[in-house]
Parts: sequence; C-alpha cells; structure tokens
Amino acid sequence: MMKLWMAPGGLHIEPGEAKDAKDLARIHAQGFFRGWPSEEFASFLADPNCPVYIACDARRRISGFALIRTVADEAELLTIAVDPKARGKGIGRALLDAVFADLMMSPARRMFLEVDEQNLSAIRLYRHLGFETISTRKGYYPRPDGSAATALVMARDLG
Ligand SMILES: CC(C)(COP(=O)(O)OP(=O)(O)OC[C@H]1O[C@@H](n2cnc3c(N)ncnc32)[C@H](O)[C@@H]1OP(=O)(O)O)[C@@H](O)C(=O)NCCC(=O)NCCS
Repeated sequence: MMKLWMAPGGLHIEPGEAKDAKDLARIHAQGFFRGWPSEEFASFLADPNCPVYIACDARRRISGFALIRTVADEAELLTIAVDPKARGKGIGRALLDAVFADLMMSPARRMFLEVDEQNLSAIRLYRHLGFETISTRKGYYPRPDGSAATALVMARDLG
C-alpha cells in the first residue's frame, strides 16, 4: 500500500528510506545542540519498529521528518525536526498528523515524547495536538554552557 499524506506548501509526507540518512542527520543537526551521526539514522531507517516520516517536495527534497519507535502498544516520538527555513508553516503539525493516522493501523494506543521545558514552540505544537505533560526529568538535556535542561514528558492517546 502506498503511504502518502498532504503537507503545506505543496509538500507531501511519505515513509523515509535508507538513502535519506544523510539528509535527516543534516536537518536534525540544525535543530539540536547535539546532532546524531548519519549512521544512527541509517540504523533507524533499517529498523521496522522505527518508522520515519519525511516531508518533501515532488523531487523528494526533504524539509522535515519525524522518527518514531513503537514497542507493543506504545509509541515514542524519538525526534522531529524541520529545516529552519521551512518552520512555522505547519509542516511539523502535518508530520505528526501523518504519524497519528499511520499509527491507527498499528497496535500502538498511546504516544510519548520528551521535550526541553524551554522549547516553547515545540511544546505549544504538542499541546495543540493533544499532548499533556505527565512528568518531568531534571538534568535531561545538555546545554552549550555545560548546564542541563529539564525535560517534560508528554503523552497522548492514539485513536
Ligand atoms: C519543533 C518543530 C519541529 C516544529 O516544526 P514547524 O514546522 O515549525 O511546526 P508548525 O509550523 O507545524 O507549527 C509551529 C507554528 O507554526 C504555526 N502554523 C501552523 N500552520 C501554519 C500555517 N499554515 N501558516 C503559518 N503558521 C502556521 C503553528 O500554529 C505553530 O505556531 P505556534 O508555535 O505559535 O503555536 C521545529 O520548530 C524544529 O525543527 N525545531 C528544532 C528541533 C526541535 O526542537 N524539535 C522538537 C524537540 S522534541
């Protein structure tokens, strides 16, 4: 079955493929203080329990992606990132809506994520999409100045 969802700006969302590892590492590094090597994305892309969703144009140029891990009836948002030039246009929301739609057909019934408590735009997006804070983790994210930020753990029911 062909999986395809619409996204703003003439983009669409489809499953990520092995050849996307470098693009995902580049976009991820622009969104986080600590990047992940492309080898790490290559192994996620090869793992059937870790679906990847990319937002791209008709020539498959990638503007953003979401990486999920599913374990039994739970799903975790491992990371989501949108190219800085493409943010604020609804691509992040479209990626997560595609994830929710796709996971309807999986055993996952609840989705979790962790987010830096100071990442207000991400938190607002997650709240709009129905996530609620269920706990906090102190000292979770390293900061460039050597300190560490608190993470919010958020969750949402699926379907
Ligand atoms: C978090 C992130 C993925 C969000 O992606 P995004 O594509 O900018 O998200 P969206 O555009 O869907 O939503 C962001 C804002 O745009 C607004 N928006 C949504 N659709 C829109 C549209 N059609 N036109 C204009 N604005 C729109 C949303 O309401 C939201 O506004 P708000 O923050 O004032 O509520 C992106 O900011 C990013 O890559 N950040 C760095 C990495 C990161 O922090 N990841 C999450 C860590 S867990």
